[in-house]
Amino acid sequence: MAGRIAVIGSCMIDLVTYVTRMPEAGETLVAPSFEMGFGGKGANQAVACARLGSEVMMLAKVGDDDFGANTLRNFAAEGIDCRFVERVSGVSSGVAPIFVEPDGQNRILIVTGANDRLLPADIDRAAAALSGSALILLQLEVPLETVYHAIAWAKRHEIPVLLNPAPANPALALEHLREARFFVPNQSELSLLTGLPTDTAEAAAAAARTLLAAGLASVIVTLGGEGALWVSGDETRLIPPLAVTAVDTTGAGDAFIGGFAHHYVETGDIDAALIAASRYAAQSITARGTQRSFPSATAFAAFCAQIPASPPA
Ligand code: RIB
Repeated sequence: MAGRIAVIGSCMIDLVTYVTRMPEAGETLVAPSFEMGFGGKGANQAVACARLGSEVMMLAKVGDDDFGANTLRNFAAEGIDCRFVERVSGVSSGVAPIFVEPDGQNRILIVTGANDRLLPADIDRAAAALSGSALILLQLEVPLETVYHAIAWAKRHEIPVLLNPAPANPALALEHLREARFFVPNQSELSLLTGLPTDTAEAAAAAARTLLAAGLASVIVTLGGEGALWVSGDETRLIPPLAVTAVDTTGAGDAFIGGFAHHYVETGDIDAALIAASRYAAQSITARGTQRSFPSATAFAAFCAQIPASPPA
């Protein structure tokens, strides 16, 4: 199994401030440093797949500002097919002010800008290019009607979909999610969708099971420092985390999804893809930045080679 991965999603410019702590209301604080980089959940997942060696195409909208022009240059430099990344005049590109605390935890605001202009008609226009895809990746930083249209389009063309319901959106309707092959929320997204607690792995597994009962095919819950859960059919499995020192967790979920998508499309082996995804995300949090922290295939292979083999069961 191998083939092209298509990402239908967002692009942002990440404006990352590293803080010693968040200011109180009315307080002004000096922060130690600032970095700007390429982000957006769609673009991040596309870049992770491409860095690992996948053939990737991106469908997105950017503004007619410098951020939009630079985003297009970045996709080209990463070897991503960006024929369907269009510039919209009179609208800003998406931007994301991000604050990272000393323990690596992040807080993110998004201004969606041109991402709001990615519409169902854009998918129809790109249909010929999309139709050869082995997997389509979707997130929720573009309009929901576009996400629903993409899922329905992919079903008609028998292309599996991975939907990452991020950021959490209370308007997300379960009825549209049944056709997704993989549904990949984090704990808070899963809790919002199910109305159930998800603060432990057991609680998250129980919440994910309610989605299977409602007709979803399989759920992968990312648990941050606790690893990830695979919930499908009768199976519930914890993919344990890799112990690393977190420097910056921004984009770790996107690294996980890119790592999973690349390895799944390359091998068809879900178990191996989950382990690789967890390792790729772990390596990404050991460095600053979003896409900047995503390792190349060579750097990832070197990282994996240092992981001690687990003792035989
Ligand atoms: O998942 C991390 C991403 O969320 C950041 O790159 C930011 O742009 C927001 O989209």
